[in-house]
Amino acid sequence: MTHALVLDPDATAAEALARELVAAGVSVACVRTLDEARRRLAMQPAQWLFVDAALEAEAAGGPEAVATLAGPGAVAGAPPAAPGRAAPRLVWVGGAPSARGGRRRAAEQGLSLPRPVDASRLRRLLATAAPAGPGTDPGDARRASWEEGWRETGRWGPWLWGRSPAMRALQHRLGRVAATSVTVLLVGESGTGKDLVARSLHALGRRSEGPLVALNCAAVSPTLAESELFGHERGSFTGAERQHPGHFERAHGGTLFLDEVTEMPAALQVKLLRVLEDGEVLRLGATRPVACDVRIVAATNRDPLRAVEEGRLREDLFHRLNAFPLRLPPLRERREDVPLLATQFLQEIGEREGRPRHFDAAALAQLQARAWPGNVRELRHAVQRAWVMADGDEVGVAALDE
Ligand SMILES: Nc1ncnc2c1ncn2[C@@H]1O[C@H](COP(=O)(O)OP(=O)(O)OP(=O)(O)O)[C@@H](O)[C@H]1O
Ligand SMILES: [Mg+2]
Repeated sequence: MTHALVLDPDATAAEALARELVAAGVSVACVRTLDEARRRLAMQPAQWLFVDAALEAEAAGGPEAVATLAGPGAVAGAPPAAPGRAAPRLVWVGGAPSARGGRRRAAEQGLSLPRPVDASRLRRLLATAAPAGPGTDPGDARRASWEEGWRETGRWGPWLWGRSPAMRALQHRLGRVAATSVTVLLVGESGTGKDLVARSLHALGRRSEGPLVALNCAAVSPTLAESELFGHERGSFTGAERQHPGHFERAHGGTLFLDEVTEMPAALQVKLLRVLEDGEVLRLGATRPVACDVRIVAATNRDPLRAVEEGRLREDLFHRLNAFPLRLPPLRERREDVPLLATQFLQEIGEREGRPRHFDAAALAQLQARAWPGNVRELRHAVQRAWVMADGDEVGVAALDE
């Protein structure tokens, strides 16, 4: 469905326009300020941006500020739009077209709408100036090809193997949320595939042409963590010899994967929350924040609610990250996938080593019966050892670990 964002400080006027848009088959969200609009767009991309013409006169930025919302290149210094993600089309609502600024450009392109809003004129505008809508989302075609590949092989996308109902349910939710910019929290035991799921989310979504930047929150030193994440200006602390953009800025237009997020130092969690709420990053030692358009995927192998109880994860940050939780089932809850995974891993090592081997039925049955506390990673390693220990082309129970 086509989505529009209406930016108008006057709620009554916004509602009048929203009603007409809904009647024309467009879903709508209304906001009153530029800041709200920025936040909203980061969460939910829109194809249309309707802005009250009176905002042009506003001291704070005026048309230039609005143009940065609307998309790339409209104004010098505006951050580029996320690659692969069409910028919303800007329409000024009400007021006479002025002789300067973004609105004149908009008016020249016919993208202005007088008040009171006329329904048929609005529909004409929607039909003739339609930007790339969801129908042309490259992600749609990719999702269809991932589905087709899965039906043939059992592999969904480039990485995720599995035909079990639990994996199917995960793929379904993944496919839906990948098309949005909604924050995703991956929760699953070690070895269940959180890394692969984060990569799949990025590859399938509108941001796939943008960067995927990963930060392992457990591995970064507490003293450097802030500068790693948010960057620093030259000379902002001893040793900061050069200016350094942080992970957030580098992920602009793409995805930031915060792995093991419950291990993040508490002080940093506060700052992360602020950045997520403002959509802006302040480098260490900088005076002006920069806007960042980043999709967050966070992961943990702990129970996040328990991490909150234990004081490892701030509750407010948890709620912010938990916008769309995805639970990765442990392998013991989807044993029906074990033969498929084991066969696949055996084939991979066979190809790599130049000697194909295959499991006999008894070996597969035994692998399927095991508990796999280390999940898919443990299975992969067990299969590799079995390939090494096997005598002939067939890998039997004798080649499996005790
Ligand atoms: N559905 C799957 N299909 C194929 N391989 C998988 C799948 N799930 C996991 N794996 C494999 O299992 C191993 C572990 O996966 P991954 O690193 O994504 O797990 P993780 O949940 O991030 O683990 P950790 O919590 O330890 O970081 C990798 O070798 C990965 O390729
Ligand atoms: Mg991992």
